[in-house]
Amino acid sequence: MIPAIEKLPRVSLGFYPTPITNASHLSSRLEGPALYIKREDLSGLALGGNKCRKLEFILAEAQRQGATAVISTASSQSNFCLQLAAAGRKLGMKPAFALIKGVHVETQGNLLLQNILGSDIEILEVADMNLLKGNFINDKWDQMSAHLRATGHRPFVMRHNIPDISALLGGRGLIKTKNELDKQCKSLGIEPTYVMLANGGGGTQAGLELGSRYLKTKWKVVGVCVLNSKAVAQQTVAEQVNATSDFLGLGVSVTPDEIEVYDEYIGEGYGIPTEEGIEAIRTVARTEAIFLDPVYTSKAMSGLMDLVQRGRFKPDDTVVFVHTGGVAATFAYSQEVATK
Ligand SMILES: Cc1ncc(COP(=O)(O)O)c(C=O)c1O
Repeated sequence: MIPAIEKLPRVSLGFYPTPITNASHLSSRLEGPALYIKREDLSGLALGGNKCRKLEFILAEAQRQGATAVISTASSQSNFCLQLAAAGRKLGMKPAFALIKGVHVETQGNLLLQNILGSDIEILEVADMNLLKGNFINDKWDQMSAHLRATGHRPFVMRHNIPDISALLGGRGLIKTKNELDKQCKSLGIEPTYVMLANGGGGTQAGLELGSRYLKTKWKVVGVCVLNSKAVAQQTVAEQVNATSDFLGLGVSVTPDEIEVYDEYIGEGYGIPTEEGIEAIRTVARTEAIFLDPVYTSKAMSGLMDLVQRGRFKPDDTVVFVHTGGVAATFAYSQEVATK
């Protein structure tokens, strides 16, 4: 337990602990290490995913501020925005998003579910994820906030700028995953050597890195980039670890070179599936009956498979793969994913 976290205000949105399953068929297929899959995709809220944990803290803060609406931005098939919309609805807050035009903007996958939730959606005619950090998006949020205020709402903007309060609040949610994971591994009688996951903005990896250092675990975290280069991902994770540690007074500090990430599985870019990733979706479905998503977990699993081939993981290792969710997006990507 991390007392500084247990004391923080939190709303209950997901079903925890999420299960962990022995992926023995997949492990045999790969002739690799023992594999377990931590099912964050079964966290419950809006088809599940890794963002629910941090939303439990962030929305407690939104509630404290008296928010009646939530605003954010990401890519058009954003899993995060779907989870935020669902969390908002559950707490009586109207969801509103400005979404950067991604590969799929049709009313399918996450956008279909946003439609059902009745979220206000503006698709921005820009395709650069870096805009999430600049003045452009701040101006957009100001406009959206003004519009919501004019209709009697008190909006809460979930920002992506680091280090801001949302990132700090978000990081805390993920440290809890680490605690939970340790308990589950103990009851399964396993001692993981690695925990592996997709790295997008890096907050999930940062939470696990911080948790593993603070609680001095034997396992090491390995990330697979789906958006950033290795150097940027290492820097971003280290910044989030250090900022969150300062915020919570945990006394942990890391440098970028201590963060293990691989950026060779991104393919053509964020949101564009790779052949290896699609193959990973099929392999995991056909060995474990678990569906990976086309944007994050499929690329992370293709990385895991390749790293087994390259000998980074040995047969006597035990690897826990964190399934971070995103499965709804598969329906928007049916053309890319379906066998022709
Ligand atoms: C399904 C899924 N997996 C992984 C990630 C990456 O999480 P992070 O941004 O914390 O690196 C995301 C982020 O949106 C996601 O939706």
